[in-house]
Amino acid sequence: MENTYTEGLFRFIESSPTAFHAVDKMREMLESQGYNRLLEGGKWNLKKGGRYYVSRNGSSLIAFRIPETGFCGFQIMASHSDSPCLKIKANPELTAEGAYVKLNVEKYGGMLCGTWFDRPLSAAGRLMVRDKDKTAMKLVNIDRDLLLIPSLAIHMNREANNGYKYNVQKDMLPLYGSCTDGTEMRFMELAAHEAGVEEENILGSDLYVYNRMPGSIWGAGGEFISIGRLDDLECVYASLRGFLNAAEGDSIPLHCVYDNEEVGSSTRQGAASTFLADTLFRICEAQGMNGEDYRRALAASMMVSADNAHAVHPNYPDKSCPSNRPVINQGIVIKFSGNHRYTSDAVSAALFRRICEMAEVPVQEFTNRSDMAGGSTLGNISSTQAAVKCVDIGLPQLAMHSSWETAGVKDLEYLIRAAEVFYESSIEESGFEEYQVFVGKNERKI
Ligand code: CO
Repeated sequence: MENTYTEGLFRFIESSPTAFHAVDKMREMLESQGYNRLLEGGKWNLKKGGRYYVSRNGSSLIAFRIPETGFCGFQIMASHSDSPCLKIKANPELTAEGAYVKLNVEKYGGMLCGTWFDRPLSAAGRLMVRDKDKTAMKLVNIDRDLLLIPSLAIHMNREANNGYKYNVQKDMLPLYGSCTDGTEMRFMELAAHEAGVEEENILGSDLYVYNRMPGSIWGAGGEFISIGRLDDLECVYASLRGFLNAAEGDSIPLHCVYDNEEVGSSTRQGAASTFLADTLFRICEAQGMNGEDYRRALAASMMVSADNAHAVHPNYPDKSCPSNRPVINQGIVIKFSGNHRYTSDAVSAALFRRICEMAEVPVQEFTNRSDMAGGSTLGNISSTQAAVKCVDIGLPQLAMHSSWETAGVKDLEYLIRAAEVFYESSIEESGFEEYQVFVGKNERKI
């Protein structure tokens, strides 16, 4: 079944083997729509009606539009560009039996290890390259089946089906080549060749292993989608599509994508950094606003923290909360946590439900079982830097952190539609904890 949004998502994910590539792909999509790059180190002269984006570390990105007339606050949707995978270490070649070359790797994030075996893999990331007196980033993607992590045969481990504790250093080193056929090429030499640079000019690298299996639409009614990195590139894509579709409202819409959610967000470009707060403040400063104006704008702002959610698993129904049981293709999931590991509360959930009503999109609720810890995400971490009303949401999916994840065709479209209405909306506090949601241009400003 052909579906434009699904096909668009697959092309986006397939061209985004790493966070660096995801940001580069977004750059391409934004520039084709007239967005201008801002440098954090440059002077920002923001014009009315202007379209801009800024990135940090090449792996996080914020895009926004300045309305023609004044604005009242920011409507921010935040998602993350990274996914769990294997990172390739420096000096990666290791030989085995004098016949095999394998690569030395370590874990990035909380991956489901078993799903990385016996499938076509390759390597991608970025190189820092010497170019005369400059040192510049160069993206690289070795776009062919290059690596594979072979399972150990059942005959050599009869206990393999009784649960297995994976040791990355021993079990998960991908096979890269053989050293007897005379064609061996060191890994960095190959990466340099693919990037079109001289190996001796490579001064730094961040390279990762990725799953090469292309996206698939499947199921009796073509209702499921599977591909790697759905967490969280599905939300990244939905947020960007909604952002680009949205008409002008009374707020400044911000499409915000952080890196490093999978490893705790505490990097220069993660949700715990000042990237968003710096950007919001600079937008206000460039409009000639003062500190009070900035804080009033924050009070009139809202963030949707969009990171995929766990659907009830058909074979493990007991792992989900007994009364909040999201399923695939039945709508956007609002996530709640008594200990505020998710930011959603009565206020932010109510405002988000109104947005979804206007978008004619169904919502579902998620809570963890009370006897299970569950995960966390970027909403509450980002709130420590820029505290605005925030709701944690996601699309229901199965097999989170597998190298091949599964979600629903309908849900993707639901989030794109909700994002579009959200980016067109603005929220007025009409009284103490009393709100009015406006959509489109109503000429309201602070
Ligand atoms: Co995630």
